[in-house]
Amino acid sequence: MAAQNIKPLRDVVIGKYDQLRTRERVVLDIDGKEVGVYFEGDEVRAWLNVCPHGGGPVCQGKIMPRTVHNFLPGGKSGGLGHHESERNIVCPWHGYEFGILSGEHPIKSDVKLIAVPVRISDGDVILSV
Ligand code: FES
Repeated sequence: MAAQNIKPLRDVVIGKYDQLRTRERVVLDIDGKEVGVYFEGDEVRAWLNVCPHGGGPVCQGKIMPRTVHNFLPGGKSGGLGHHESERNIVCPWHGYEFGILSGEHPIKSDVKLIAVPVRISDGDVILSV
């Protein structure tokens, strides 16, 4: 079996948390890899800018409240609505949606964005790429 050429992760400081969190998202190119970094409340997540559906630039899609199907008492449909707090990233190519915090498709939980390790240390936002 051939040895695999796996590079170790390295930390990249992308900026100050207090400044970056004023934007809900930044998309960066780091060594040829595009990464979307999302600030949601006090949480931060980073996802590879490659949609698991067809390779589209998912992190450049709109951010929208998660769509929910409302039901009336008795089980009748109350139509579609939006979740009060959960928001999704909508891929611009075919509209697949992914939770900002979970990276999961709302129905197909095995279809997920690829996480990039991110942390905050001494006020810096640091990606491991
Ligand atoms: S490539 Fe993203 S929904 Fe198809």
